[in-house]
Amino acid sequence: MRTKIRQRAFGCRSVPPGIGMVILVMLTGQSAFIAAQPAERIPLGNHGAAVEAYQQRVLDALQPETGATNYVPNGIDPVYWNALIPQDNEITPARIALGRKLYFEPKLSADGTVSCATCHDVTRGFSDQQPTSEGIGGQFGMRNSPTTMNVTLLHTMFWDGRSPTVDHQAMQPIINPIEMGMEDDEAVIIAGIKDDPEYRRMFRDAYGRDVNFQDIGRAIAAFERTLNFLDSPFRRYMSGDTSAISVDALEGWKLFNREGRCAACHAISPSNPLGTDNKFHNIGIAATHLDFEKLAAEAVQILQQDNSDKMLDELALATEYGELGRFTVTHNTHDIGTFRTPMLLNVGITGPYMHDGSLKTLWDVMDHYNAGGEPNLYLDGGIEPLNLTERQIDQIVAFLFTLTDIRFAEENARKYQEQFSLSRRERPERNTPVAERKVLSFENFRHSQPEQER
Ligand code: HEC
Ligand code: HEC
Repeated sequence: MRTKIRQRAFGCRSVPPGIGMVILVMLTGQSAFIAAQPAERIPLGNHGAAVEAYQQRVLDALQPETGATNYVPNGIDPVYWNALIPQDNEITPARIALGRKLYFEPKLSADGTVSCATCHDVTRGFSDQQPTSEGIGGQFGMRNSPTTMNVTLLHTMFWDGRSPTVDHQAMQPIINPIEMGMEDDEAVIIAGIKDDPEYRRMFRDAYGRDVNFQDIGRAIAAFERTLNFLDSPFRRYMSGDTSAISVDALEGWKLFNREGRCAACHAISPSNPLGTDNKFHNIGIAATHLDFEKLAAEAVQILQQDNSDKMLDELALATEYGELGRFTVTHNTHDIGTFRTPMLLNVGITGPYMHDGSLKTLWDVMDHYNAGGEPNLYLDGGIEPLNLTERQIDQIVAFLFTLTDIRFAEENARKYQEQFSLSRRERPERNTPVAERKVLSFENFRHSQPEQER
């Protein structure tokens, strides 16, 4: 098993003032964005995440309304919403409050430095805006941290869908050796929590029981069910406010459905605002230097000996077997290298992109699709070269930036600027030999190479 170790410094994070605004307005029209303001300096703590007190303040400002009983998020049909809530975990204010406290609780990690909020930081679109995430001891896994916003509306959890619900998911990082690193032992996990009289009282109020690991998962899930951020300019456009997005973004929306063929997997409609089919596809992101057949055979062997959720979680995050994607869950050959179509809501503020965080900007994402993906034996049939022009790419990107909840409008405008300037300097996915047709795609085709070639 391989883990990467890097270090991230303590200090402050600040964002430069809005120099690119003029370009931004020309390109996208002002209506879709609020001008980027110079950000205040955000105090940083363990592993480079914003300090807890700061995150809590931002969260208070973002969701003043969640203390209510019978919580139903704005913009979601109550019948649909209630069908998503497990019977053993109805949402109550006591459960939300407990889950919120646990979400920020570093005592749930072996060295007391990591909480859910380290990698799902409220000030960074509930992600960490890093290619891959840093857990205890400065260890890095091999997967990109998705946002915890709107996750409770997804059909499965994780890039490979290996967890069925948020309630189940929330327990996995706590016992993953490179994330929060607790021993897989209920007594150890709850020790620090059980000693705290306030937690004991809160668990009684929330679940009528003593502190236990399952209820830790449930409470965090109840809190996550309040992280709904659906109010995007695009959604407003869909509900009839034609001035909510720019002319270019509107062109981008048309291209998204037609020439770009994005809607084949990322369908967006008023009833499905997330922009995912909740299915698994190989779009040619997985590392192509790998010998997938060999990895697949080995992964099956390992999982035959230990098919626990914990082992699956470790394989996914800390080893090259993770590049097999959905295959590690189903063991079906056609699932090799497939990952769940991510939702596109709030995508402007949750980069870098893809399961391995390998693409820095939405321009890089577009270049990837425009070139037809990295060729491999398991590539999804829907992925082929698109021949979109630069202007069309800019328009689709403008559209993607209208999918961010308006509560993050400033951050969204800043990210747009950052990505825009980066994309004018470097386009690593565009200027490749395959994309420029200097080689034919099958010349790069890699499939079971002999060992000594690698
Ligand atoms: C060290 C960083 C780290 C910590 C700590 C962490 N996560 Fe994550 N989280 C990740 C990564 C990386 C993934 C993606 C892993 C994968 O798909 O294999 C993820 C995935 C998720 C997902 C699935 C999202 C989706 O779109 O499928 C949820 C929900 C989530 N985490 C919630 C939590 C909660 C709750 C906690 C605290 C108990 C937590 N995470 C702790 C890094 C972290
Ligand atoms: C065949 C299905 C399919 C098609 C067609 C498709 N996507 Fe994707 N998309 C995916 C999958 C699967 C991933 C995740 C792949 C991975 O990480 O390996 C993804 C990832 C993304 C991401 C990264 C999101 C994140 O949070 O990391 C963006 C943005 C995106 N797609 C936009 C688009 C756009 C724009 C188009 C059209 C040009 C498009 N997609 C076409 C399935 C598809």
